[in-house]
Amino acid sequence: MSDARTLAIVKPDAFSGGKTGKIIAQLEGDGFRIVGGRVVRLDRERAEAFYAVHRGKPFFTSLVDFMTSGPVLALALEREDAVTRLRELIGATDPAEAAPGTVRALYAESKERNAIHASDSPENARLEVAFFFAEKDLT
Ligand code: CMP
Repeated sequence: MSDARTLAIVKPDAFSGGKTGKIIAQLEGDGFRIVGGRVVRLDRERAEAFYAVHRGKPFFTSLVDFMTSGPVLALALEREDAVTRLRELIGATDPAEAAPGTVRALYAESKERNAIHASDSPENARLEVAFFFAEKDLT
């Protein structure tokens, strides 16, 4: 499957903290093209559906609380090797383990309040882009 498109979410901590512009500049500086963007406030049902793979894990309820605590920016992004490259650019889930200069090293507060989400496989990228965007709305 093509690895040209992926989904990022600027999470409530980074969005409300005014980090969105810097994060977008970092993504565009790395060659990502924004093909879709939406500011949304997820309700619990939508957040639970998005993170369904984590249901039952100890952090699930807290993660849903966090992701519904304020607006987020969903971004559909394109570039060569988009999924792999975005995962590299955002860094490890835990900012304490994220490489210097990565989005999470720069802006994340904690393992949960970690500034940004990125799809972890081309298959999930396809599902996650479709979660937020109709194909006809992508440029
Ligand atoms: P994300 O890439 O959006 O995917 C799942 C999210 O769950 C992850 O980023 C973190 O925000 C959160 N998460 C993952 N592991 C933990 C953990 N051990 N404790 C708290 N939150 C976690």
